[in-house]
Amino acid sequence: MFSTLKSLLLPTSKQWQAHDFSGIDQLHLGGIGSTQELITWLPSDLKRGLDIGCGLGGTSRYLALHKGCSMTGLDLNDDYIRCATLLNQSLTTVPDCHFVVGNSLTLPFSARSFDFVVSQHASMNIDNKGDLLTGIFKVLNDGGQFLLHEVMLQPNINPDCVDYPTPWASNIAASHLLEWQQFVDEAIAVGFTLTQFEDNTASALNWIRQTRKTKPKPPFTPLLALGPTAGAMSANVLANIEHGRLQVVSALLSKQPA
Ligand SMILES: C[S@@+](CC[C@H](N)C(=O)[O-])C[C@H]1O[C@@H](n2cnc3c(N)ncnc32)[C@H](O)[C@@H]1O
Repeated sequence: MFSTLKSLLLPTSKQWQAHDFSGIDQLHLGGIGSTQELITWLPSDLKRGLDIGCGLGGTSRYLALHKGCSMTGLDLNDDYIRCATLLNQSLTTVPDCHFVVGNSLTLPFSARSFDFVVSQHASMNIDNKGDLLTGIFKVLNDGGQFLLHEVMLQPNINPDCVDYPTPWASNIAASHLLEWQQFVDEAIAVGFTLTQFEDNTASALNWIRQTRKTKPKPPFTPLLALGPTAGAMSANVLANIEHGRLQVVSALLSKQPA
């Protein structure tokens, strides 16, 4: 993807704006709108943030540009990280973001390095949620916040019922969906307190129906980020939500001050 993106960005004298990239760097249900809503939950004095599973870095860029945050974005995918850095550098005002390749299960940061952690649609690939949450708890300062926007399994749904491919997994073996209640129980066991919660399933359903009716704006379309099966992924996410298999949630989990 890096060389394609580079060729789309470089030969033009166009002054790119961060929102030009939202077709590829907001790879979650609700798109840029859900990011804008989610970050209103963050206390404004929290400035040093970690974006786990940052993809092409849109959430990090948004927080840096609109909230004055200093962001580190981490993703397993080396190509995505190179693209995230390239997108940053193509802006006239380069956002305060640093992108690194890494695994969210073995975070390469010292304890108490961040005021907050944000993660959108990135835990569904992680089988060991306990280790994920323990790592996040460790890198947060006392009083730090974990802001998440994730896809969960609806209560009492057999994971085998979910249709694939989806944007996070080509088949069930690569997917590790959990029910929200199980996820939050694990978070509380690690030491977090649930501060805020919202079920976004209905709004996500409206958004995906609407998005599927709208022609993507070239050149930065989801096809570029997700590849040729992007259409099938979107159709399956729609069917999975319509049939009551998936839930979309936002939540704020807090690490209590010492
Ligand atoms: C659906 S994308 C979401 C990207 C971004 N958060 C956004 O909303 O635009 C999920 C991302 O999680 C990353 N990811 C999956 N497993 C990971 C892991 N163990 N460590 C770090 N990143 C991971 C993937 O590479 C992918 O970029």
